Amino acid sequence: MSHPAPLPTLNLVGAGRVGQTLAHLWNQNRSLVVQDVLTTSLASAQGACAVIGAGRAVASMQALRSADVWMLAVPDAHIAASAQALAEATAPAPAGAPSPVVFHCSGAQSSATLAPLAARGWRVASAHCILSFASVPAALQQFPGTPCALEGDAAACAVLRAAFSAIGARCFDVASEHKLLYHAAAVFATNFLPVLQSTAEDLWQATGMPAELIPDLRAALLRNAVANITTLGPQAALTGPAARGDKAAIARQGAAVAAWDAQTGTAYEALSTLALRLAQRGRR
Ligand SMILES: NC(=O)c1ccc[n+]([C@@H]2O[C@H](COP(=O)([O-])OP(=O)(O)OC[C@H]3O[C@@H](n4cnc5c(N)ncnc54)[C@H](OP(=O)(O)O)[C@@H]3O)[C@@H](O)[C@H]2O)c1
Repeated sequence: MSHPAPLPTLNLVGAGRVGQTLAHLWNQNRSLVVQDVLTTSLASAQGACAVIGAGRAVASMQALRSADVWMLAVPDAHIAASAQALAEATAPAPAGAPSPVVFHCSGAQSSATLAPLAARGWRVASAHCILSFASVPAALQQFPGTPCALEGDAAACAVLRAAFSAIGARCFDVASEHKLLYHAAAVFATNFLPVLQSTAEDLWQATGMPAELIPDLRAALLRNAVANITTLGPQAALTGPAARGDKAAIARQGAAVAAWDAQTGTAYEALSTLALRLAQRGRR
């Protein structure tokens, strides 16, 4: 009688919002066996294991057992140092043993950040899920269908494609040299929205709009913008002076904004240029 192949084991270095969410899903789905979890303290690693529903909290890199797959879900600024420390702390794989797969979750960095582990023969990759992991409970609900950009060693990407697809991600490949631009797109698509909204509200308040009107106005404008952009597409949803090609109005308005705040004026001018370009694209 043939036995099914054992499930791949997973170690986590860093287990905050992203690490806990993904490990919880893999544990629930039985597609990876969550093994050891290392964070900045034993207490937080124990808390992460409780949320994941599996795993053994450890207090040092030296205490991590060997595993098939390693997730470095630490903040971006700590990935390189964690990879270096992991390369120094782990014993080389026995001759003939399959190389471990190691990946980080950053959108802006490529798998090259894991070079110290690649030098030891590990298969390195990055896997970036395009989702705001604001809290673990919310991310668990929102995860199914999330696009996930894979980059790096082909064999590592194949392992990750299977693991991420099993929990409902929609995987696609991104070239290493495109990761910065790819991530900048996500910044435009989501991170800048609160900045634009906050700037608009500062201007309304500076011009005397009653503060109590702002929450409802914010909700209505954002709700309508989302509906228009998703149903019509960005170009057809564009309104305002740029959509009308009214460059004189843009110039007068830009000068007024720049007089109020120079940096906001620069942003207004740059965004207006992009808005005119978008409007023009629709007329071609
Ligand atoms: N948040 C998002 O929306 C999002 C979306 C896509 C991708 N990402 C990427 O996912 C990665 C993790 O982000 P996150 O939001 O999950 O971060 P996070 O919630 O701040 O969690 C970071 C985790 O790393 C641990 N940690 C920090 N320094 C460490 C070190 N030197 N050694 C071991 N563990 C360490 C922290 O330990 P403690 O628990 O003890 O503090 C924590 O468990 C980043 O690369 C980020 O760019 C994030």
